[in-house]
Amino acid sequence: MATATQNEDHTRSAPVESLSKNEPLKVASNYLKGTLIESLANTSTGSISADEGQLLKFHGSYMQDDRDLRKNRRAHKLEPAYSFMIRVRVPGGVTTPEQWLAMDEISDTYANGTIKLTTRQAYQFHGVIKSNLKQTIEDINLSLLDTIAACGDVNRNVMCNPNPYQSKHHAEVLELSKQISNHLTPKTPAYHEIWLSDEAGEKFKVTQEPEPIIGDSGDEVEPIYGKTYLPRKFKIVVAVPPSNDVDIYAHDLGFIAIIEDDQLVGYNVTVGGGMGSTHGNTETFPRLAEVLGFCTPQQAVAVAEAVVSVQRDFGDRKVRAHARLKYTIEDRGLDWFRDQVEQRLGYKLGAEREFAFDDNGDRYGWVEDADGNWHHTLFIQGGRVLDKGDLKLRTALREIAKVHTGDFRLTANQNLQIARVTPEKKAEIETLLKEYQIDATFERTALRLNSMACVALPTCGLALAEAERYLPDLISQIDDVVEEAGLAQDAITIRMTGCPNGCARPFLAEIGFVGRGPGRYNLYLGGGFAGNRLNKLYRQDIKDHEIVDTLRPVILDYAQNRNEGERFGDFVIRKDYITATVQGSDFHANLRPDVVAN
Ligand code: HEM
Ligand code: SF4
Repeated sequence: MATATQNEDHTRSAPVESLSKNEPLKVASNYLKGTLIESLANTSTGSISADEGQLLKFHGSYMQDDRDLRKNRRAHKLEPAYSFMIRVRVPGGVTTPEQWLAMDEISDTYANGTIKLTTRQAYQFHGVIKSNLKQTIEDINLSLLDTIAACGDVNRNVMCNPNPYQSKHHAEVLELSKQISNHLTPKTPAYHEIWLSDEAGEKFKVTQEPEPIIGDSGDEVEPIYGKTYLPRKFKIVVAVPPSNDVDIYAHDLGFIAIIEDDQLVGYNVTVGGGMGSTHGNTETFPRLAEVLGFCTPQQAVAVAEAVVSVQRDFGDRKVRAHARLKYTIEDRGLDWFRDQVEQRLGYKLGAEREFAFDDNGDRYGWVEDADGNWHHTLFIQGGRVLDKGDLKLRTALREIAKVHTGDFRLTANQNLQIARVTPEKKAEIETLLKEYQIDATFERTALRLNSMACVALPTCGLALAEAERYLPDLISQIDDVVEEAGLAQDAITIRMTGCPNGCARPFLAEIGFVGRGPGRYNLYLGGGFAGNRLNKLYRQDIKDHEIVDTLRPVILDYAQNRNEGERFGDFVIRKDYITATVQGSDFHANLRPDVVAN
């Protein structure tokens, strides 16, 4: 296995003060410890400082405030309604029924009564107040899950295809996801000291505390990352064709499983994908990952470390908006990057192998695998598990978790799979699904089944417009057009985010909405159905009530004039509604003149 290599980065040898303000903060934090222990003990405010907030991200939490309440609280001279979002890492999205029950209880005891299933196969809790933060993170660890590196400038949750129908290969790719995740998890003792110790500093033995290792860089605390971790967040996924449900092209690093003669022979390695951009700054853009080469299963962890270490050393630490791996590759070229990776590995990567993706969605309902076990995928709108009105989704899943002997798999599309149901248990689970009326969650238009929205308001401090709370209603309106056009069974991917950071990967959707301000969105069209092409701006800054009328003629035209099997995203390019985006560098180019609304 490769070991961490020396820092070669010119920006890291520059005075740390000349870098972005997060860099000196990381250096001064004593490996992410900072003053978090003291700050958590301060009960005079529900908040923490901005610098501590930056460090807290590495521990898996964001400070937020309820934006619905801001105005009123300000009027009453109260501080904002601060609370914390906590993200739980779930490598490969696979958890046990016991862990599901633990998440269910935490959501009720400390959070807002909902479990959020995210677009990156993690659990999220919202509304945890400061005085409950430590206990919540401790309880998450007691369930043998954790939150370290769920956010921050490190490798985040490693995702993999939940793959219900190829169980043998699922086991292999899940194992790889876990290995990469373990290998790249920060080794700092700060996490255990802050969250898993009592007042006397005695640590609880819940999850294994990492042993100190000295890397080639001479750093005994963080052998891979060093004191300054990565320039920016880093995201890794593993896909098993023909499904691209993990959206490999949106990620910094990806592994595409190559299966030949029913054997997993290795992986095509992809690098340089990412979604985030900033409105009005054409220097920032979403970008598709590209294939770097091929590696064997045994080489994959070392390849991951080598890729991470090149980005650690060459990523831009001066301008955070330019710090993701996608810009390092865009600026220096893929060949340069491959050369760097191969130098660190000490061998060359193989040539890309053939593969093809069909789609980036989920398969709903029951599927039987080769071992005779069953897997049921539920559609969960916005990934939000809660009891609301007559629909007792959270209760239903709790009752199922009490009897289920397989696992719960989170999908990359915010859905949930009740997986590895034995033939003996299937009837019992089916009865519960029926009893709680969630046996046919997928009896919706194919448009809705292929939709995703990020959290946005009221919790996300970066949201410019609604997403999770608005998209379901908007789809109901678009559904009328879809049904009129006879397209209820035709899958079209549709995604919405409250800002251009792109947490629900809107730039890969056939129809994408990105918030610009209250009730105002950019509308993008023409993403690839398999998540393999970026979309293009079709209308800038349209108002929410204009959306349906804007889309209506395009959808009707598609219904009437598409070619056999032609996807919506391909159709809008052929019919010249937009020009295809080839790569991130032309995302802002070739716009039609009528993009800006009158
Ligand atoms: C500069 C870029 C970004 C920033 C500052 C950012 C920040 C945030 C924040 C504050 C939240 C919490 C919202 C809430 O739960 O209330 C969030 C949610 C999330 N973000 Fe991002 N984000 C960025 C880009 C991305 C991208 C590009 C992805 C994925 C490709 C992503 C994945 C997620 C996921 C999975 C969630 C959970 C919520 C969901 O599933 O809707 N983020 N992000
Ligand atoms: S896309 Fe923007 S609004 Fe949505 S969760 Fe991410 S940061 Fe918040």
